[in-house]
Amino acid sequence: MKTVITFGTFDVFHVGHINILQRAASLGDTLIVGVSTDKLNFEKKGRNPIYTEYDRMKIINSLRYVNLCFPEESLEKKAEYIKQYNADVLVMGDDWEGKFDYLKEFCDVVYLERTPSISTTEIIEVISSN
Ligand code: CTP
Repeated sequence: MKTVITFGTFDVFHVGHINILQRAASLGDTLIVGVSTDKLNFEKKGRNPIYTEYDRMKIINSLRYVNLCFPEESLEKKAEYIKQYNADVLVMGDDWEGKFDYLKEFCDVVYLERTPSISTTEIIEVISSN
């Protein structure tokens, strides 16, 4: 049995999120998703996500190929989460290429190509400019 873990904010859920979660799930038997908390996002980006962490987690939890999701409280805790959930593979989008290679001592690290031309930031910009 192979466990895959991935992380993200997944705010204003879109098809790029679906694509990476589906591909991540296909790499193993169990998919676990760390959803970054509102506090963590505020620290990173200086603003809260549009959807609360509860709603973001509810959306991720409702996907049939996601087995479990949990709040990611700190970017520095990835090694801890990998060990806690016995993950065999860490999946990240290729916007993070190379950034998590230091975790290869705990599990395989795979970067998947992002879906082109869509992001939460872009969706928010388009909506707010109309
Ligand atoms: N992702 C993807 N393709 C996209 C957008 C996101 O594969 N077009 C992946 C990211 O690489 C990440 C996961 O989805 O592994 C969650 O990304 P997140 O940062 O929450 O989404 P973005 O749309 O990139 O959000 P933002 O614009 O706020 O950075």
